[in-house]
Amino acid sequence: MPEKKGDRRTGADRRSVSSAARTSGEAVNPPGDRRSGTERRDEAAWQPVSIEAASTASDSDLALLAAATDARTRAQAAYSHFQVGAALETADGVVIGGCNIENATYGLTLCAERVALVKALSDGHSIFTRLAVVADTEEPTPPCGPCRQLLWEYCGDIDIILGNLNGPTGRVRLSALLPMPFDRRLLG
Ligand code: THU
Repeated sequence: MPEKKGDRRTGADRRSVSSAARTSGEAVNPPGDRRSGTERRDEAAWQPVSIEAASTASDSDLALLAAATDARTRAQAAYSHFQVGAALETADGVVIGGCNIENATYGLTLCAERVALVKALSDGHSIFTRLAVVADTEEPTPPCGPCRQLLWEYCGDIDIILGNLNGPTGRVRLSALLPMPFDRRLLG
């Protein structure tokens, strides 16, 4: 488990040992298929990712979710009204919270996960164990694509605990969310 006590591997170390199983699956875009991107998306949703049941949440998962829920109360989400909280745990047990921060350009929005990550990195933390993400949604709200990329590069294959205002909704490994990552191994 990535959060094993005493595990002092950096994000780079965790990345290099991770080899999550990849599934090939059937063709998703057979010839003649004229469905739009939106239609394809609605069909696929998030089901292809195997996600552990919320009931697997440990006491420390619940504590991390509570920290994310607390961070969420400071969300600056005047445009989307979608408030998100995140909490990133370091190997030393320090918990760093983050909330989403929006602004009038929309495009400069900072997600809760990235806020937590940059706060942690700029405070000198470099070894991470788990991340919790909380939003007011029935289904689990996973980190967006850009956040997955940054989390992969700086945290490696961590566990992500997902929750809503009633408690845990699931648990997933980052490698399951980002199965074919681009990272500095490929830069030569
Ligand atoms: N958001 C996050 O902060 N984290 C996520 O995992 C999903 C999306 C934010 C970005 C934006 O402020 C709002 O939620 C709606 O997309």
